[in-house]
Amino acid sequence: MSKIATLEFDGKKYEFPVTVGTEDEIGIDIKKLRGEAGLITLDPGYKNTGSCESAITFLDGEKGILRYRGYAIEDLAEKADFLEVAYLLIFGELPNKEKLEKFTHDIKEQSQVDEEMKKILDGFPKSAHPMGVLSSLTSALIAFNPSSVDVSSEQDMYNAIVKILGKFPVLAAWTLRKKHSLPLNYGDDTLGYVENLHKMMFEKPGKTYKVDKAVIDALDKLLILHADHEQNCSTSTVRMVGSSHAGLFASISAGISALWGPLHGGANQAVIEMLERIKEDGGDTHKFMEKAKDKEDPFRLMGFGHRVYKNFDPRAKIIKKSADEVLGKLGVEDPVLDIAKGLEKKALEDDYFVKRKLYPNVDFYSGIIYRALGIPVEMFTVMFALGRLPGWIAQWREMRLKKEPIGRPRQIYIGENLRDFKPLGSR
Ligand code: SDX
Repeated sequence: MSKIATLEFDGKKYEFPVTVGTEDEIGIDIKKLRGEAGLITLDPGYKNTGSCESAITFLDGEKGILRYRGYAIEDLAEKADFLEVAYLLIFGELPNKEKLEKFTHDIKEQSQVDEEMKKILDGFPKSAHPMGVLSSLTSALIAFNPSSVDVSSEQDMYNAIVKILGKFPVLAAWTLRKKHSLPLNYGDDTLGYVENLHKMMFEKPGKTYKVDKAVIDALDKLLILHADHEQNCSTSTVRMVGSSHAGLFASISAGISALWGPLHGGANQAVIEMLERIKEDGGDTHKFMEKAKDKEDPFRLMGFGHRVYKNFDPRAKIIKKSADEVLGKLGVEDPVLDIAKGLEKKALEDDYFVKRKLYPNVDFYSGIIYRALGIPVEMFTVMFALGRLPGWIAQWREMRLKKEPIGRPRQIYIGENLRDFKPLGSR
């Protein structure tokens, strides 16, 4: 028996169907609310509002559960590699060997970036933040791949998908190379996706490229952990832009800009900057905890708190464990890891954080590993974008295949009522 929700307003009763998801989440379907009751809902930040039904990622913020297409993040992080997870997110099933080989081949075939793109890259000052450069270059890709804009068939979508998966790592690596005045390259396509990304980022002219397998394994795991996270700010942006049929590359470019913000993906850079500031200040975490709790002080404990997780972010748990392993394997001593652990311990015992259910999120420890892998801090959020790319693609594809309507929220107007125009002379 399907459930209904009843709304009583102004002496009238209205009934609305209720949708129950496969994990028993319940949503009131208010499609008819304005038509039948002349009402809209108001929910700044959409804290209580579902934008869609999706089969891609399930998370339970109270229990700290995260699954991609039904597979536990803990299993995928340990047992899968990044391209397998990308395929799973986008197409819904883990690929068999043949499908994975074809997917990998098709992506490699599309990893060439038009030489003219280098002129656009050259137009940026070295001081430009890599996220701004990457968002611009991703949008510029449209000009060189016009067939990737108007994608109505599944084949057209597939072609656009393998193009962006092939070209995005090149653009990301080039933003780093440009900043460090290193030649732009394509690495070696006999290498795996993640190892070739690392080679494009770090190979030195005239030197033989070699890398510790532990570095590639750690990078692969971090990309998997960042691959999707249901309707977060940047993914909702990708869906919103995609809903106007602006095309995949334009939608991804917008998602990169949304991710850049320090309240979202930019937090991984902000966390390291915060930990460094605490270290420079003598390591007094108590002082910074008090600043974070002081409403008059704009300082927040970066890497802490989450819109959905009111328990440990399962990704943070895996990354924290991985940080110990990777730094141990690489013989890296990073004092900010101890500061981070001390801060976490204090916060989890502090009433302000406990009452608000503020736990470490995915960004709290990730930067410590990126730094140990030799990735510059200004590239941390680019690494987040590289991980999130398959999730953005999967969500965009789901939205387009379901032929969802253009996104266009309502508002409650609180401005001036009708008033007469006053000529300039009488104002
Ligand atoms: C990501 O949505 C996703 O899934 C995102 C993400 C993904 O994978 O896509 O998980 C990735 O973006 C993780 C979050 C990274 N951001 C940060 O680490 C920045 C620091 N965190 C906060 O800015 C904040 O916690 C947010 C933005 C993450 C969540 O903000 P909300 O849900 O809007 O919560 P809020 O700001 O209303 O906070 C509720 C209370 C407030 O206090 P009161 O007004 O109730 O007294 O908690 C306080 C806040 O002041 N609070 C913090 C805090 N986070 C929340 N106080 C101090 N330090 C913090 N970090």
